[in-house]
Amino acid sequence: MACGRMKVLCVVGARPNFMKAAPVIEALRRWPLIHTMLVHTGQHYDRLMFQLFFEELGLPKPDLDLQVGSGSHGEQTEEIMIRLEPVLKREQPDLVVVFGDVNSTVAAALCSSKLGIKVAHVEAGLRSFDRTMPEELNRVVTDHLSDYLFTTEPSARKNLIREGVPEEKIFFVGNVMVDTLVKHRERARAHRYRDILGLELPYGILTLHRPTNVDAPNTLIEILEAVQEIAEQLPIVFPCHPRTRQKLEQLNVMHLQGLNGQYTQDRKGGLMVIDPLGYLEFLSLMDEASLVLTDSGGIQEETTVLGIPCLTLRDNTERPVTVEQGMNVLVGPCRKRILEAARKALTGGRLESRLPDLWDGKAADRIASIIVHSIDTPSLGNV
Ligand code: UD1
Repeated sequence: MACGRMKVLCVVGARPNFMKAAPVIEALRRWPLIHTMLVHTGQHYDRLMFQLFFEELGLPKPDLDLQVGSGSHGEQTEEIMIRLEPVLKREQPDLVVVFGDVNSTVAAALCSSKLGIKVAHVEAGLRSFDRTMPEELNRVVTDHLSDYLFTTEPSARKNLIREGVPEEKIFFVGNVMVDTLVKHRERARAHRYRDILGLELPYGILTLHRPTNVDAPNTLIEILEAVQEIAEQLPIVFPCHPRTRQKLEQLNVMHLQGLNGQYTQDRKGGLMVIDPLGYLEFLSLMDEASLVLTDSGGIQEETTVLGIPCLTLRDNTERPVTVEQGMNVLVGPCRKRILEAARKALTGGRLESRLPDLWDGKAADRIASIIVHSIDTPSLGNV
């Protein structure tokens, strides 16, 4: 406990953590009783994967950067724990807050709970039921180590109860990604990134980085062939994740039409490969897109809020509410299903998308309030 204040240490590491942590840190800082610290593990370290997000989202400079960098899953997880442990021993926080499902999330949760420090997991309970996904293992382990499980959608509570997590640890608070989207949507629109790319309406977006999609050459090529076929009618912008670019280079397919970064939009469309985008640039582009193809988790949620048809290049989703209430369709990495769903989405007119419960921009306030009122900090008495 720092000077009679509750010390809350937030740990982030990879791109999708940053937009989840930003509103939570902002909400925590509104409570004078809480002293908030931020540790970046350094899992993502490129300017385009890390610094730009901190700047755009107004995240405070991390109190500490553990600079773990890339490595195998074992190496990365181990290295985060080795570097985080002395920090936790020194700082002795009352609570460690972790976000999402990346290696930094599980490493920080494990390290904290082994030291007897309470853990809060933001975005708990999501399950794809596919244990070949590293993120699924990270989710399961993190949830079972956590003391406060903040959920985004009804399926999460059911999953946690089924796995024996006590009901009183689970708090349905809504979606902090949506808090960030709501806050920055107008700013993103003013960005007009489409104009910067010289792109006319309509157009689509592709993002691709999951190991199951990009590590197997046949799968990657099948997806790209389907996308190229769609791109004959509809220009597709492809902000390319570093791991995907590496795989494309290894496969020696960058010479294929559109994959070499040379792009000229003509009436017939085209595929445009660009560097990863910042949060505002990507949101500005997504806001006006007619179709999004992705294997990301967060983008399934963002397209649900924006009411944009989303083809998820996976056979499962841990975010079923985006299929039930949003415009998300699971198409797998399967050429035929991708083309069929794209045709439907582009010709079928706009479907109605319903905003899931509590995706209202106030999830982080609920989290901060629960933390303040329920964490046991004896020397503070009742707050
Ligand atoms: C991680 C998350 C994934 C999330 C994704 C968002 C895990 C298990 N996976 O996957 O859930 O959707 O982040 O991007 O934590 N690299 C760079 N620069 C960087 C970071 C990575 O070039 O700043 C390259 C490195 O070659 C690295 C590779 O990308 O080996 C993969 O990075 P890593 O953090 O291991 O996983 P992601 O694929 O980014």
